[in-house]
Amino acid sequence: MTKTISGFSKLSKSKKIDWIVNTYFSNKEAAKSVLEQYWNSNDNLQQLHDEFIENTITNYYLPLGVAPNFLINGKSYTIPMAIEESSVVAAASKAAKFWYDRGGFKAEVLSTTKIGQVHFMFHGNLEKLQLFFNSVKDKLITEAKPITKSMEQRGGGVLAIELRNKTNAIDNYYQLHVSFETLDAMGANFINSCLEQFAKTFKAEAQLFELFSEDEKNIEIIMSILSNYVPDCLVRAEVSCNIEDLTEDKTISATDFANTFIQAVKIAEVEPYRAVTHNKGIMNGIDAVVLATGNDFRAVEAGVHAYASRNGSYSSLTHASLENGVFRFWMEIPLALGTVGGLTNLHPLVKLALELLDKPSAKELMQIVAVAGLAQNFAALRSLTTTGIQEGHMKMHLMNILNLLDANADEKIKLTEHFKTHSVSHSTVSEALQSLRSKN
Ligand code: MEV
Repeated sequence: MTKTISGFSKLSKSKKIDWIVNTYFSNKEAAKSVLEQYWNSNDNLQQLHDEFIENTITNYYLPLGVAPNFLINGKSYTIPMAIEESSVVAAASKAAKFWYDRGGFKAEVLSTTKIGQVHFMFHGNLEKLQLFFNSVKDKLITEAKPITKSMEQRGGGVLAIELRNKTNAIDNYYQLHVSFETLDAMGANFINSCLEQFAKTFKAEAQLFELFSEDEKNIEIIMSILSNYVPDCLVRAEVSCNIEDLTEDKTISATDFANTFIQAVKIAEVEPYRAVTHNKGIMNGIDAVVLATGNDFRAVEAGVHAYASRNGSYSSLTHASLENGVFRFWMEIPLALGTVGGLTNLHPLVKLALELLDKPSAKELMQIVAVAGLAQNFAALRSLTTTGIQEGHMKMHLMNILNLLDANADEKIKLTEHFKTHSVSHSTVSEALQSLRSKN
């Protein structure tokens, strides 16, 4: 049986589902009922979700959790996190509470510039191209006014347009390298619309530029697109405390704890295999808040990892020091986020998440997200350098194992109690469940 279809996107939702279940599933009714289980009974809400993307066949749920007790620049937050990994919210909450009692997190937005580029090929004389660029620059801006006007009224817009010569990398390759301020919007649509207009004007005006030869007039636009690399849209988050306040654990001195912790950070600074996992832990916190607030986590991921390699080798995003009796732990990362536009005004849970955060500006959200990442890394390193990660991780994973083994509510209560003092693995949980069942 053929498993391809043309005109799929034009089918109704129920016809799409029929085709999917008939083509790919032996138990068609079971497959259909799983898809239906996740539909929302509120038709308007379901339609809203259906229309976010093409070919929607159901909704994909992730838990939305909250991590309370974050103190950021003196203000308390409960941070919403959408994530499936069992231990992430618990770790964030623990780190938040720990630092709440030590003055909280300090965060600062260092810059907010975003970049977009028109990539083009020009076969000709560079000096003439430069003359043409100088002559057309104002027109690029004027012809984009219908797009930039309202952003400019709010204080944002196009900051600068540069001509960049990239012929060292590829013959005849140049760019219009444009920087933008997009205020509370992530800005992807705004930037891409501006760039496409610049490209149009640039190409059309080249045809009229008298100094150009026929070849030179034919500027070939390859593409116009924002960059998700935003090293000048940067936020810094930090915690610090006197060394004597650093540990609650009587079995380890604060200085030993700090030194081991700092060593772990140094390893991630120099060793890419470790740095990737270290930064992955940071992204556990970052992605969860980015997702809960309706932002583009793929853009954030791509930009953050590029930034982590900016010095030529993939390295830790966080840093730590112990100087003059003060422990300091900090991170600077690029984050292009929005609190208006995109899903932010559309998705009811995103609206709720933003309200929970007291309707932050994009700058405030940058600070909150960076703090969630730093907190996550603190929690991970604290576990890794003391008890090991598995103890906490497996405790949080216990409920997933119990669910896999079809434990009932009563069994879950008893076994959760039991595993407060026993180590969790799939086999120990399975044995404990069997032994409980045999006793009853
Ligand atoms: C697991 O999701 C994240 C950690 O591996 C991060 C780390 O190793 O730092 C615990």
